Amino acid sequence: MKVFDVLDVNIFGESHSPEIGATVTGLPVGETFDAGKVAEFAARRKSGKYLFSTPRREEDLAVWEGAQALGDGTYRLDGPLTVRIVNGNIRPADYTYTVTPRPSHADYCAWVKDGENAARSGGGRFSGRMTAPLVAVGGVAKQLLERRGILVAAYIGELAGVKGGSYSPTPPDYRTVTACHELPLPMLSSADEAAARAKAAAARGDSVGGVVECVIYGMPAGIGDALFGGMESKLAAAVYAIPAVKGVEFGAGFGLARMTGSEANDPFAVREGKVVTLKNDSGGINGGITNGMPVTFRAAFRPTPSISLPQKTVDLAHMTDTEITVKGRHDATVVPRAVAAVEAAAALAVLDAVLDAERQNRNR
Ligand SMILES: Cc1cc2nc3c(=O)[nH]c(=O)nc-3n(C[C@H](O)[C@H](O)[C@H](O)COP(=O)(O)O)c2cc1C
Repeated sequence: MKVFDVLDVNIFGESHSPEIGATVTGLPVGETFDAGKVAEFAARRKSGKYLFSTPRREEDLAVWEGAQALGDGTYRLDGPLTVRIVNGNIRPADYTYTVTPRPSHADYCAWVKDGENAARSGGGRFSGRMTAPLVAVGGVAKQLLERRGILVAAYIGELAGVKGGSYSPTPPDYRTVTACHELPLPMLSSADEAAARAKAAAARGDSVGGVVECVIYGMPAGIGDALFGGMESKLAAAVYAIPAVKGVEFGAGFGLARMTGSEANDPFAVREGKVVTLKNDSGGINGGITNGMPVTFRAAFRPTPSISLPQKTVDLAHMTDTEITVKGRHDATVVPRAVAAVEAAAALAVLDAVLDAERQNRNR
């Protein structure tokens, strides 16, 4: 399945297979990345790190192939890059919903598509665990972008219905966003209220959703193309690959639908010899091509489907209605862990468009 022009990203394994990983082709040979920095980035995705996350401890020890170790923790890209992550802490027995699918998880759809013998323990290839390799290779993409002056930073914009800081009307400073990555709730105006709501839901055996906002700083103008080649198309395709994402909007997004043209249009101006827009409701993209303003988008995350309250489902063996209570270790909200996944997916999409532009410039 190819969603990018230059990069090919293949994520393999399943949540409870011995290992999971990713292979990326098309990365620029000869460039380097720091595996230690990738590990620091990946640590932001790990379960157990934040409040409300599953106590399943994930070690996420990454082994890199297709890159030359330079001995100081850095690697030189040498061809297709593969990362392998061992799935250590697995308890498959907790997670078998072959006959009684969990409402709004992928169990039923996978059963229809793959048949009842498909190995789907733990959500299989649909599990949030699959964001571990995504974050690893996205961490490499982030470093290659940083070398080009492009910074990808995401934060929680809303949790359990509590709204927080936003890129509207002006994106927060990059340092402000990254400072809150140790515990991402500070971007919420009432972090205590959000935490209390999420905890109360968890205590009832329920779950909550939220919104992750992402700003891409230092994005040059002229990246992307029309139609399917658009920067929005690429970013949305990458971000929708993250399990539990149910909405993506750029700039003022759905808000634009309620504005008039005179309210919605971003006026142009020249500042310090550079064309800018005086506001950024377009999210830094017009016609699929970046306009030089920061690229901004929001991703809506559904509440975790696995909840421990009794739920109506079906018994697929007997084709009858029944009830289930989901057991096992699940995130009461996936949102804090998904922030790094959003950055990773966005970084891969932007790197692809940037490498495509570099290739076109070389061929001119
Ligand atoms: C980091 C992360 C962790 C997740 N953890 C869980 C979990 O513990 N339990 C669960 O039911 N869903 C979890 N999900 C969400 C499901 O994987 C997802 O809702 C499911 O595959 C159905 O896909 P969809 O919501 O995109 O339709 C997680 C998602 C992410 C991004």
